[in-house]
Amino acid sequence: MTINDYKNVVVTGASSGIGEAIARCLSQEDLNVHAIARRTERLEDLSSTSGCLVHTMDVCDSKAFTDLLEKIEVDVLINNAGVGRGYGQLVEASYEDIDTTIDTNVKAAVHAVRAVLPGMIERKRGHVINIGSMAGLYPLASSLYGATKGAMHVLSMDLRLELQGTGIRVTEICPGRVSTEFYDAAIDDPELIKRKKDSGIKEVTSEEIAQAIIYSLNVPQHVNVNRIELQPTEQTYGGMQFTSKESK
Ligand SMILES: NC(=O)c1ccc[n+]([C@@H]2O[C@H](COP(=O)([O-])OP(=O)(O)OC[C@H]3O[C@@H](n4cnc5c(N)ncnc54)[C@H](OP(=O)(O)O)[C@@H]3O)[C@@H](O)[C@H]2O)c1
Repeated sequence: MTINDYKNVVVTGASSGIGEAIARCLSQEDLNVHAIARRTERLEDLSSTSGCLVHTMDVCDSKAFTDLLEKIEVDVLINNAGVGRGYGQLVEASYEDIDTTIDTNVKAAVHAVRAVLPGMIERKRGHVINIGSMAGLYPLASSLYGATKGAMHVLSMDLRLELQGTGIRVTEICPGRVSTEFYDAAIDDPELIKRKKDSGIKEVTSEEIAQAIIYSLNVPQHVNVNRIELQPTEQTYGGMQFTSKESK
């Protein structure tokens, strides 16, 4: 089972950044690419320039979202829609930020998987690709966002176990810093957005993430790409911190 054996792909969060790049890239293959997001104008542009089938939809509307998914014989589900509201310290996150981030990054993704799995199991083919983050694997002092991406990490691992023997593959893609509109939507303070975006490093591009997904789809059926981590060469994670005597 490679990309050529699949017919229908669903990409959530396809109106910008990584999701748009994935949708554009996959539309060059012999596939029906269903692109989902809320911004209709962006989707119309995607449709007219790539041929993607677009659906204006809020993935947090669980009923409408799963009704749509159940109407498509989904071979490949790419759970990409995500936000970073409350991206900084949890103590500063608002009630709305917490709900929006968990609902978009986790609840919608779990509903999507639940909606497409029966058909995939029946047809004995399918690939679920979850866009996680390095924040889901390493501590980045971003508890809320990290918790949602950590959930995607465990979801991916558990699904592989639950689906063993069905032929359905599950891949987690964990990007580090990618040059997208992510911070524009995550942060309200224009100065802070500017500082985040002007990192001065060469960031990974959305197209480079899309290529990793194409690779995961194209390996032979007997190979499951479990997880790919892609970060800028100039970015790294980990380390240790101590509270200094002065700050006590
Ligand atoms: N950029 C990074 O450095 C980075 C690093 C690691 C992981 N990621 C992950 O990569 C994924 C894509 O993010 P990005 O960097 O490409 O950011 P982006 O350009 O802001 O894209 C986010 C996408 O999600 C969609 N979306 C958000 N809420 C939605 C909702 N309720 N319903 C439907 N669609 C929704 C947005 O579309 P609408 O606003 O039109 O709905 C947009 O298309 C996210 O899961 C993010 O957590 C990003």
